[in-house]
Amino acid sequence: MTVNLRINADVPVHRISKYLYGHFAEHLGRCIYEGLWVGEDSPVPNTDGIRNDVVSALKELKIPVLRWPGGCFADEYHWKDGIGRPEERKRMINTHWGGVVEDNRFGTHEFFRLCELLECEPYICGNVGSGTVQEMAEWVEYMTFDGESPMAALREENGQKEPWKLKYFGVGNENWGCGGNMRPEYYSDLYRRYQTYARNYGDNRLYKVAGGANIDDYHWTEVLMRESGRFMDGLSLHYYTIPGSWEEKRSALGFEADEWFETMKKSLYMDELITRHSAIMDQYDPERRVGLIIDEWGTWFLSEPGTNPGFLYQQNTLRDALVAGIHLNIFQKHSGRVHMANLAQMVNVLQALILTEGEQMLLTPTYHVLNMYKVHQDNDLLEVAYDSPVYSLGGDQIPQLSVTASRDEAGKLYVSICNLSHVDGACLKVAVDGLQAGSVTGQILTHKDLDAHNTFQSPDNVAPVPYNGATLKDGLLTCELPPACVAVLTLE
Ligand code: AHR
Repeated sequence: MTVNLRINADVPVHRISKYLYGHFAEHLGRCIYEGLWVGEDSPVPNTDGIRNDVVSALKELKIPVLRWPGGCFADEYHWKDGIGRPEERKRMINTHWGGVVEDNRFGTHEFFRLCELLECEPYICGNVGSGTVQEMAEWVEYMTFDGESPMAALREENGQKEPWKLKYFGVGNENWGCGGNMRPEYYSDLYRRYQTYARNYGDNRLYKVAGGANIDDYHWTEVLMRESGRFMDGLSLHYYTIPGSWEEKRSALGFEADEWFETMKKSLYMDELITRHSAIMDQYDPERRVGLIIDEWGTWFLSEPGTNPGFLYQQNTLRDALVAGIHLNIFQKHSGRVHMANLAQMVNVLQALILTEGEQMLLTPTYHVLNMYKVHQDNDLLEVAYDSPVYSLGGDQIPQLSVTASRDEAGKLYVSICNLSHVDGACLKVAVDGLQAGSVTGQILTHKDLDAHNTFQSPDNVAPVPYNGATLKDGLLTCELPPACVAVLTLE
């Protein structure tokens, strides 16, 4: 099947915020403990307790921002339990995630150290569900107050004289569910109250994110925007790609074509969700000052057999790679309203970038897609006109292709293409207005097996390779794509 595409390199649509490439690390399963934090005394090489191998792999991705400490955990987290002498820190039960003991060894100081090592910005989520206004206010004071204050003194006592820079601050998480089971009217009032005391100290300016809707709860967005829109900088939205249903999840491995198709379709649904939530936001905020913050997205499958179901540890296949590519293309398209997105989660949980086992670590297909796509960060999005062929299965139809393009400051053009079909390849004929390209290079991620994945025995089973299916002739780019692939091309 031949598909004609036209990219307009002359007219930038909007800037692709680098914050669309954000991540999320929660006190859940083996994400923080083992995945990121092993402790100073661990045989795993570390810097101040943080794994060197994981940090160095993550740094490759140019991560702009990292959300912490949850998730559902955030509304049970009491930050003062996680500061001071490690051996004296309070032990608690992580009731949401596996009922295990949380010894608070990884707290505020350790999180800022992790961000420093990753060279990314912190995004902290405060506790509305079970915390007080005072507790949240004091956390902000502890992190950002410069000068004489009780919390600044406590921070200094704990070894950090200078305040940290903190911009992104979430006022609760999923307050319609694990964050308090609230009605939007009630949460909206609480949001107004809590955020009042999350102060801007000195030259630190908070970007306050209100807890947003679950999936298609448009009423939540309506109420929040109407009642509290003027008090917020961002409003969140959570949507996970779950083949089967929430009650009957499916396995990450060993699926058939119908589940592949269903997963692609459910990933594409993110486009509709953003469009419809944005339309509501547009009514109250036509200037698009308030960002839609998709601070949790990704696949959610059954936990790997033999692991604690509360730890949400799942394998990651070529299918996850497609899900990642599709989402990133959608976010880029909506970057005028979507100011940030955070993949759930960074290590060992849900659609992870990295899996670890003791001293071993592997990069997942999802990691590779994020690495291929990082070239888009902070570029201008370009218009791409095309009619996608249809991908059909069992009487249902979705577009076969998902494509976005961007241009960087130096004038290089990047095209990211996902071929969703598990059976059909595609031949793309791409005309570019406004760029006389002299060369094309690229990378492609694909495999003959739809559930191909990486294991500690075979860590490079799914990995990108140089793409040599593209040719340029008289300014026209031709690309031959196999089924089920993600490709990113550079034209210059
Ligand atoms: O990412 C796992 C959980 O999913 C988060 O803790 C919660 O916010 C969401 O329901």
